[in-house]
Amino acid sequence: MSSRTILITGASRGIGRALAVAYAEPGVHLALVGRDEALLSTAAATCRARGADATVFAVDVRDRDGMAYALATFDLAHPLDLVVANAGVALPTGDDPTVATSAYDEIEINLVGALNTAFPAIPLMTARGAGQIALVSSLAAFAPLPDSPGYSASKAGLLMAGLALRERLRPRGIRVNVVCPGYIATAMGERYEGWKPLTMAPERAAERIRSGLARDMPVIAFPRRLALAARLSTLVPDRLRRAGLSAFRFRIGDG
Ligand SMILES: NC(=O)c1ccc[n+]([C@@H]2O[C@H](COP(=O)([O-])OP(=O)(O)OC[C@H]3O[C@@H](n4cnc5c(N)ncnc54)[C@H](OP(=O)(O)O)[C@@H]3O)[C@@H](O)[C@H]2O)c1
Repeated sequence: MSSRTILITGASRGIGRALAVAYAEPGVHLALVGRDEALLSTAAATCRARGADATVFAVDVRDRDGMAYALATFDLAHPLDLVVANAGVALPTGDDPTVATSAYDEIEINLVGALNTAFPAIPLMTARGAGQIALVSSLAAFAPLPDSPGYSASKAGLLMAGLALRERLRPRGIRVNVVCPGYIATAMGERYEGWKPLTMAPERAAERIRSGLARDMPVIAFPRRLALAARLSTLVPDRLRRAGLSAFRFRIGDG
């Protein structure tokens, strides 16, 4: 059955916005979450023009109580079929050799923020014995990136949390899926200075995510060739991994 009531974080732009637009059609209720209210309102107007009902929640995903409130409020009016924890950041790599500040912030937003989105949905969906939760990770979950340990850690943590939750919640009728995109042409992608093979448009990424969620794929990883290379990188000896990853050195600009 297709999802009719969907909450998406990071819906003000990029992949989240493209996903909201892809789902927008008559009979669909969307909750769009992010921090930039003006951008969220523009995204909501686009979704409404396609016939969907769209509500905006300006909340930082780090605000645990705020996220729980947004989910509960929306669910009361429109019981949630699908929650997509998509909000994320890749912070400027800068010159700090310890990368500590950016690492803590990336883990706080990409991992803890995603859990702040997913966890409040669990009791709501458990009560109905149905629902789906998608966690947007990255192919970086498979690759220990020396230029951004915090990003790698946040995305690997999210992948493992998602797969663990998938098994844990299956008996309650809740499906959990982890999305691992490669390079996507968004604002985040623009700040990335490095080789970006097989870069995809956000609209195409949204279609891949939508079809993977409809098929309940445990890990929706794309594009296929890059996903295969990323997954293999965890299995090969250290020397080979280092050689392979040397082609993917990068810096994130201030944007
Ligand atoms: N682009 C890529 O190449 C790529 C590849 C793999 C995975 N991903 C992942 O895909 C997801 C979406 O990325 P994107 O490329 O679409 O990035 P983007 O264009 O920079 O959009 C990021 C979205 O996240 C929201 N966001 C960021 N911090 C937030 C916070 N603290 N609270 C609430 N919302 C927040 C932003 O909204 P506000 O600014 O309004 O808060 C925005 O809507 C991220 O999780 C990213 O890690 C991206």
